[in-house]
Amino acid sequence: MCGDGIACPFHGWRFDGEGQLVEVPRLDLTPRASARAWRVRERNGRIFVWHHAVDAPPSYEVIGYRDDETSWTPWRFNTYRVRVHVQDLTENIIDRSHFSAVHDMAPPERDHFEVRFDGASMVVEQSLRVTAVDVAGYEIQTTTTTCGPGIVAVEVSQDPIEMLTYITQTPIDEELTEVNLLFSMKALPDEKATESICELNDRITNEQFTQDVPIWENKIYRERPIITKVDGPVVQYRRWFRQFYSDGE
Ligand SMILES: [Fe+2]
Repeated sequence: MCGDGIACPFHGWRFDGEGQLVEVPRLDLTPRASARAWRVRERNGRIFVWHHAVDAPPSYEVIGYRDDETSWTPWRFNTYRVRVHVQDLTENIIDRSHFSAVHDMAPPERDHFEVRFDGASMVVEQSLRVTAVDVAGYEIQTTTTTCGPGIVAVEVSQDPIEMLTYITQTPIDEELTEVNLLFSMKALPDEKATESICELNDRITNEQFTQDVPIWENKIYRERPIITKVDGPVVQYRRWFRQFYSDGE
């Protein structure tokens, strides 16, 4: 990055935000040249690039989190490369019946599970019982918001704790997807407590993610699966996800 543009790390040529070449080191007269410019958004400590199969302009905005960034802990992050399609990754959020089978999670006392589809977002509010904190399980309320096909934010707000797990998914090729799991929480007055909650959450998130991987990498996608009432709204989810495909794709 170089001001509003970028500089090539090879010979230092500098391009502005429109892709125009504006400077060549040690040269007075800059040759007329340009590179392809991409639409980017710097948000939540990440840089997002808009990519569209047929070059249509952006149809939604990246949702921002952690307004007062300084009171939140720096992102902790882990990167994985998994043989899974992005559609299957986010389908996992509403796949209620896999929580007990894959993640060994007991059903929560308060059976709250609500899904809303809103434009490019899907919002899931639910109760989860986390058994890593104590054996009996500790119940938390989570709000999971997707933004487009590749961004997921899981918010837990339970006074005095505010946590955010932020997941970005980027297809690398026909088969592989790079998944970044980021975590941040509002710093508590007790530094040690903050640190240990971060560590615990890191462990749980990565453990749960790893449990899903062998399933994702080996399952077969069925266009018309048999859905029962204990499953989540898979059909509605897939209908909603269709908006992210271009015609004929
Ligand atoms: Fe899962």
